[in-house]
Amino acid sequence: MKLAVVGGGSTYTPELIDGFARLREELPLTEIALVDPDTRRLGLVAGMARRMLARAGHPAKVTATASVEEGAAGAVAVLLQLRVGGQAAREVDETLPLECGCVGQETTGAGGLAKALRTVPVVLDIAARIREHAPGAWIVDFTNPVGIVTRALLEAGHRAIGLCNVAIGFQRRFAAKLGVDPGRISLGHVGLNHLTWERAVLLDGRDVLPELLEEHGEEIADDVGLPVGLIRRLGVVPSYYLRYFYAHDLVVEEQRAKPSRAAEVAAMEGRLLEMYADPAVDTKPGLLERRGGAFYSEAAVALIASLLGDRGDVQVVNLRNDGTLPFLADDAVVEVPATITASGAVPLAVPAVEPLYAGLIAHVTAYETLALEAALHGGRERVADALLAHPLVGQAAPAGELARRLVEANRRHLPWA
Ligand code: G6P
Ligand code: MN
Repeated sequence: MKLAVVGGGSTYTPELIDGFARLREELPLTEIALVDPDTRRLGLVAGMARRMLARAGHPAKVTATASVEEGAAGAVAVLLQLRVGGQAAREVDETLPLECGCVGQETTGAGGLAKALRTVPVVLDIAARIREHAPGAWIVDFTNPVGIVTRALLEAGHRAIGLCNVAIGFQRRFAAKLGVDPGRISLGHVGLNHLTWERAVLLDGRDVLPELLEEHGEEIADDVGLPVGLIRRLGVVPSYYLRYFYAHDLVVEEQRAKPSRAAEVAAMEGRLLEMYADPAVDTKPGLLERRGGAFYSEAAVALIASLLGDRGDVQVVNLRNDGTLPFLADDAVVEVPATITASGAVPLAVPAVEPLYAGLIAHVTAYETLALEAALHGGRERVADALLAHPLVGQAAPAGELARRLVEANRRHLPWA
């Protein structure tokens, strides 16, 4: 069984390889093809991946190529985990919006839009090549912004599912707090990618969220960066991306006073690549745990194993709404629990969403619709419209200025600019 990873030269790849090695019963791989245009990084990461698999006694071979066609050929699933423009482009996403008083984040707000503009055309081009060389392969998208990218893939008719580690992260952390096996916990997770709330935490089917908030409220509030009083009053756990909404001005102040996450990550990547270049290193470096992608490998292995093995279990994924949230159009992409079989993901029914959350979900979905329009068709006015529709921008002056400046800063990644 061959699996391809586009963006395989990412410093995250050893996280994935670690998951493949630990979970080999679930996913019996014989080949992992790492695809990346950066051949130097690819060489280092592939060498590290080979040493990790050898140490674990995993029989899969690791191949490395700059060609999507070659990497995808014969693959049953392809993971997309690429970052157009690297950390340098991310740095702009995280700093430029601050100059207009808006949050600087790589997936939320104006920065997320810039990322979508750069990423959607590249991903669609890659997906078309995958379809040609590996017809029938599942495309699992971890590339951000996952909601918009997944919607672009689905609208182009691809067999795609969007994946994020936020839900599995909550599942694992709640299980640890309760001292139970994570398999016994399922989540009442609802919203859009990076805009979600846990409205229930089921332990063997019984909702233990009230007890969790009672006993571990402080730690949970700390994890998501919001006041414990707010979380207890709402009785839900918002993801830490909701902090950019519920504490927007505070975050802007904080971000102005410290180096960007892109700069931090770039420094970590330098150190990680040195380790990957060292022939004596053959286990996942502890430093990787300081990246945001914890449990990403587990989520990816579980999803691919269920798609290929027709397991019919429930996992949180990004997929077409199709009536799940009745206040959104069918073709919106939502992030909810779904049953995963060989024919894909089917969302579970979701209890009616309270206006407090539904309003924001609908608002951001409208933004995502316009963001995809802008990414597909280009044009500074489309970019400004998307920003005007975003709850974290929303005013004409910053929308206009950010549209102009973000397009300018990303010109070399935008074929239409
Ligand atoms: C979380 C998100 C990912 C995002 C990552 C950023 O894992 O779910 O979508 O890419 O954080 O982590 P980083 O270490 O690059 O800041
Ligand atoms: Mn994510």
